[in-house]
Amino acid sequence: MPVEAAVAPRLEISGLSAGYFGQPVVRDLNLRVAPGEVVALLGANGAGKTTTLSTVAGLLDPIAGEVAMDGASIAGRPTHRLAREGLSLVPESRALFNSLTVREHLVLARSGEGDLPQDLIVEMLPELEKCMNRKAGVLSGGEQQMLAVGRALVGRPRLLLVDEMSLGLAPIIVERLLPILRRVATELETGVLFVEQHVPLALQVADRAYVLSHGRLVAEGAAAEMSEQQDLLRSSYLGDEAADAVKGSPAEGRAREQHNGGDKSDAS
Ligand SMILES: Nc1ncnc2c1ncn2[C@@H]1O[C@H](COP(=O)(O)OP(=O)(O)OP(=O)(O)O)[C@@H](O)[C@H]1O
Ligand SMILES: [Mg+2]
Repeated sequence: MPVEAAVAPRLEISGLSAGYFGQPVVRDLNLRVAPGEVVALLGANGAGKTTTLSTVAGLLDPIAGEVAMDGASIAGRPTHRLAREGLSLVPESRALFNSLTVREHLVLARSGEGDLPQDLIVEMLPELEKCMNRKAGVLSGGEQQMLAVGRALVGRPRLLLVDEMSLGLAPIIVERLLPILRRVATELETGVLFVEQHVPLALQVADRAYVLSHGRLVAEGAAAEMSEQQDLLRSSYLGDEAADAVKGSPAEGRAREQHNGGDKSDAS
């Protein structure tokens, strides 16, 4: 592998504007994810997180700007081609087939020789083992999410995009799920970009984080530093009327709990 390919970011977004029907909802976004790095994309509802992931994954064409994976432009490339090239998206909806079993999902996701062996996927997501012959439609929300992640790992992604893995799940399940992203990044050298509403938990797992507000980047930095700067985070993350909407939510509650020295659960 040429040296420059080895050091290029897994994902580099430069000056990206993205949106719908030519109207940008994300403006002038610059963001990088290195190989083996776990990066959180944070922001209030409607900030443009899903729009960003959808554009990187080829579901939306960028309005302006550049998106590159391992130094090669991928802007506007179709999703199925990006998937073959090592980009995996776990969408918010999970996009599972209710009538297919866990095993069938994992088999259908196979792409060839470089695939991750099923044993390793089950080792990372042991909850899947007992569900192998169960249809996705009867799994619990947490099990469905594990399957969605497991399926995304089959092709040994170089870049993994995860949109609100924890939507509708109890914090205890989120604490179980998020560290899997860290393991994937470390063991597969995958670059991971994930969207997460449980901000304190996200910052415990991430190396770095970016915060979007109304489609613009308003904060970025090392996750550990951001965790320390709760005020900055709160004002950039909540900023406006969203603050009222989010106050008292599980994310905010946990932020307060941990700020006050609440126990960290053993999430590994
Ligand atoms: N298909 C669409 N057509 C037009 N506008 C859209 C579409 N999808 C999203 N939007 C708008 O784009 C903006 C950003 O939405 P997006 O879904 O990216 O936000 P988000 O940060 O993922 O929010 P959430 O936390 O609620 O998932 C919002 O104003 C939303 O209404
Ligand atoms: Mg979203």
